[in-house]
Amino acid sequence: MTTLVQVENLSKTFRQGFFMRRVEALKGVTFRVDQGEIFGFLGPNGAGKTTTIKMLTGLIRATSGRATVFGHEVPSPAAMRDVGFLPENPYVYPYLTPREFVEMCGRLSGLSAKGARARAETCLGRTGVLYAADRPVRRLSKGMLQRTGLAAALVADPQMLLLDEPMSGLDPVGRKEVRDLILEERANGRTIFFSTHILSDVETLCDRVVILRRGEVVVSGAMRELLRGDVRRTDISLAGVDDNLEASLRARGLTTKRTGDHMHIEIEGDAHVSDVLRSVLDGGARVVEVATRRETLEDLFMRRAIAEGD
Ligand SMILES: Nc1ncnc2c1ncn2[C@@H]1O[C@H](COP(=O)(O)OP(=O)(O)O)[C@@H](O)[C@H]1O
Ligand SMILES: [Mg+2]
Repeated sequence: MTTLVQVENLSKTFRQGFFMRRVEALKGVTFRVDQGEIFGFLGPNGAGKTTTIKMLTGLIRATSGRATVFGHEVPSPAAMRDVGFLPENPYVYPYLTPREFVEMCGRLSGLSAKGARARAETCLGRTGVLYAADRPVRRLSKGMLQRTGLAAALVADPQMLLLDEPMSGLDPVGRKEVRDLILEERANGRTIFFSTHILSDVETLCDRVVILRRGEVVVSGAMRELLRGDVRRTDISLAGVDDNLEASLRARGLTTKRTGDHMHIEIEGDAHVSDVLRSVLDGGARVVEVATRRETLEDLFMRRAIAEGD
């Protein structure tokens, strides 16, 4: 397994305002990104994701620690040679069209005029803005700008995509399209390093994740190892429960809750579910819904964040 990005004990302290107040944006962060994987760099707003990405791309310098990209210590132009970068708020020249902008990015990455033209067409098509490719950029919505920026990141067919919040500004359909594009890129052998603050959106997408909080890593690892596969809770909804049945369920130590005609039972895990359902049916009630709840990335993050004590 080849490691494309290696981050070791990286820290960044900003000095801000007249009194040069210290802002510790990143406090000793360590992780790696392997070739061919979808790496999710997650965490709430202000966690330090963009700061880390800016250090990798060489836009700002680390206060301490080190990082390499394709084996080159950053900051280094060589490190970025095979990286397609989508910044957090992509800046697209207002007087160009998306087609002109993406073509220009292709030319800057060393493509021929003809090559850049063809790739721009392909990439604008893949990110779904071909219909607006010839409008001036200043007439585009946030979502269309985001898609134009994404096309620019793809244009030179880089080995690795480094995408800072690629789903921001997009509606649910747009976010799904970006997820699909990321999966396609992995299928084509690319490595994808992307950040987002929306944990629930990416749970099924990532091979590995790091979750930052206040500049520190709180969760790190392969998705299939991080989330417990077992059912944590089963929610049962019933209708037509009479007082006798409810009393007998409570006598078994179950917590029952009524909303309108329905009654809800929560069972820890899923061990007693069939017993409960049998007695419910015997008691003449109807089963409306049985839903099992597994641990989500958000649950895991909350559990770790609380364990930290604040
Ligand atoms: N140039 C800067 N000067 C001072 N503080 C900054 C600067 N850039 C980022 N920060 C602070 O660093 C922290 C991390 O920000 P950022 O990396 O943008 O978070 P994220 O991308 O995870 O939302 C925040 O508290 C932010 O206010
Ligand atoms: Mg950010």
